[in-house]
Amino acid sequence: MDASRLDQHSVQHSGHRLCRVSDVPDGGARVVVEGPAGKPVIVVRRGERVWAYANRCPHFSVPLDFEPGLISCYRSQVLMCAHHSALFRFEDGHCIEGPCAGAALDGVTVEIDAAGWVLA
Ligand code: FES
Repeated sequence: MDASRLDQHSVQHSGHRLCRVSDVPDGGARVVVEGPAGKPVIVVRRGERVWAYANRCPHFSVPLDFEPGLISCYRSQVLMCAHHSALFRFEDGHCIEGPCAGAALDGVTVEIDAAGWVLA
């Protein structure tokens, strides 16, 4: 399996187990409460590719999920902040529509190990 690496806004990779790839719905997202440094992380998945972002909207610096753990995603392309509906691309966290258009989620560099764990 391949994993995506983010060059922009990324944090140091430390081998922290976030979840298994199979724990993330294909075309959807999963919130991991205990990410690197104890901070919550959103893992998004499209097929065998995954990306991860700090669960913090660049608009008001609040978590993207209003109901804990519930992140809306559309067409396996974008995830949405529950507060003011900003849309962020899976592959780079860039906000393509909404009140913080042009900003981006903070990326977390991840890889997938041989056992299917998403490591950050
Ligand atoms: S807090 Fe996320 S769009 Fe406003």
